[in-house]
Amino acid sequence: MKIVVIGGTGLIGSKLVNKLREHGHEAVAAAPNTGVNTLTGEGLAEALKGASVVVDVSNSPSWEDSAVLKFFETSTRNLLTSEAAAGVGHHVALSVVGTDRLSESGYFRAKIAQEKLIKESSIPYTIVHATQFFEFLKGLADVSIVEGKVHLPLVLFQPMAADDVATAVGRIAVDPPVNGIVEIAGPEQFRLDELVRRRLAALKDPREVIADPKALYSGAKLNERTLLPGNNARLGETRFETWLTQSAGKIAAA
Ligand SMILES: NC(=O)c1ccc[n+]([C@@H]2O[C@H](COP(=O)([O-])OP(=O)(O)OC[C@H]3O[C@@H](n4cnc5c(N)ncnc54)[C@H](OP(=O)(O)O)[C@@H]3O)[C@@H](O)[C@H]2O)c1
Repeated sequence: MKIVVIGGTGLIGSKLVNKLREHGHEAVAAAPNTGVNTLTGEGLAEALKGASVVVDVSNSPSWEDSAVLKFFETSTRNLLTSEAAAGVGHHVALSVVGTDRLSESGYFRAKIAQEKLIKESSIPYTIVHATQFFEFLKGLADVSIVEGKVHLPLVLFQPMAADDVATAVGRIAVDPPVNGIVEIAGPEQFRLDELVRRRLAALKDPREVIADPKALYSGAKLNERTLLPGNNARLGETRFETWLTQSAGKIAAA
């Protein structure tokens, strides 16, 4: 099958392209530096020629409220229009568990807008809702700084390894469209502040992590369970400690 991966050079996209190729598919990595820009439409028609499936794992370069909304609205519109013209039979998009509960956040309003366009389009689709990636924990600390300390809300989450995200999205891409949402998550629940603290400790990052009931998540107020998936989520295999050991090994080898 020809499968075009929009954002195919990113964290999830590059892993996904490799996995699809290992399974014998013609996977095309589409991104600005491979000549495909979903914001401008450049290279899109050519890349989609003969494609059965398009998987969108792109992300906005800017997370500022209006920039991120413009990115997901414009690029999703361009993508769906080009897919209709090319006769694509399945649009898969990666989004986030709890997106519909996070509309106080500009980033999540943009993901809600992306999902709405997909649901209203004529292209059969599957929206994959993933929990936070282990790889994102340091980035989460970086955007949660107040006066030099990391302030995080007192909530539960069930994060997963990017590799497991790519495996799950790859399986979903070659299955028939569900015209709905599939949730994927990690095998264990944690408190958000505890896991970020453990990640920073492993990186020897001295920043203090504070569990702050008033802290927001990407601009949104959370309750204890906002970030948790439902009971039917498909669970990845990789446990946090295993991932931590593997990523330390990779850093040492490099
Ligand atoms: N972080 C999390 O914990 C988490 C959890 C659940 C779901 N998600 C979702 O997962 C998705 C992928 O995240 P990621 O961390 O893998 O992203 P990433 O590593 O930042 O990669 C983003 C990709 O999008 C491409 N891109 C940017 N602008 C583009 C454009 N105009 N046209 C085409 N491609 C463009 C980038 O290409 P260049 O490199 O060439 O710019 C890159 O390949 C996001 O939609 C996010 O909402 C994230």
